[in-house]
Amino acid sequence: MHFFSVILIITLLFCFVKPTWAVTCSKDGLKWNSHCLEYFPDADSFIGAEAECQKYGGNLVSINDTLTNDAVAYLINYYTEKDPPIDIWVGGHLSADGYWKWTDETVFVYANWNLTSKSEDKCMNYLMPSKLWDADNCDKEKPFICEITSNRKRMA
Ligand SMILES: *[C@@H]1O[C@H](CO)[C@@H](O)[C@H](O)[C@H]1NC(C)=O
Ligand SMILES: *[C@@H]1O[C@H](CO)[C@@H](O)[C@H](O)[C@H]1NC(C)=O
Repeated sequence: MHFFSVILIITLLFCFVKPTWAVTCSKDGLKWNSHCLEYFPDADSFIGAEAECQKYGGNLVSINDTLTNDAVAYLINYYTEKDPPIDIWVGGHLSADGYWKWTDETVFVYANWNLTSKSEDKCMNYLMPSKLWDADNCDKEKPFICEITSNRKRMA
């Protein structure tokens, strides 16, 4: 095959097949597994935050393990330079069938609830500096963290 045909085919592949490994993080983003964790300081409702994450090619972050739970706190501290907000949105929500789910639809395998909290709200609130979770009113506006899995729209 001619050299230029090969280049053309590769170029076309990149145009139509979005390689998930090609995700690039913003300068403040954190490369995490095959995606980027990005802190969004502009407060929004839970629904608004999830929509913003999707616009950038991701979802609100799902937290699968202690390491990822720690990474969320690390990113908040890093971005806000030790003056972190008290709480932020992450991707957990109480679904109509009564189970907590992640907006990215990954299986809910890990939890780090504040067990003394009695809140019966439906959206997951990540508390600083304890890294514990509780439920809060989904309409409240908070900063949030997205997991970006593909660069639909370039981060600043
Ligand atoms: C959680 O686990 C799922 C399945 O292993 C993975 O696809 C997803 O990227 C993980 N989320 C994070 C934030 O690591
Ligand atoms: C856990 O929830 C209880 C009851 O709402 C609250 O008093 C306490 O401050 C919370 N703990 C943390 C670490 O946020």
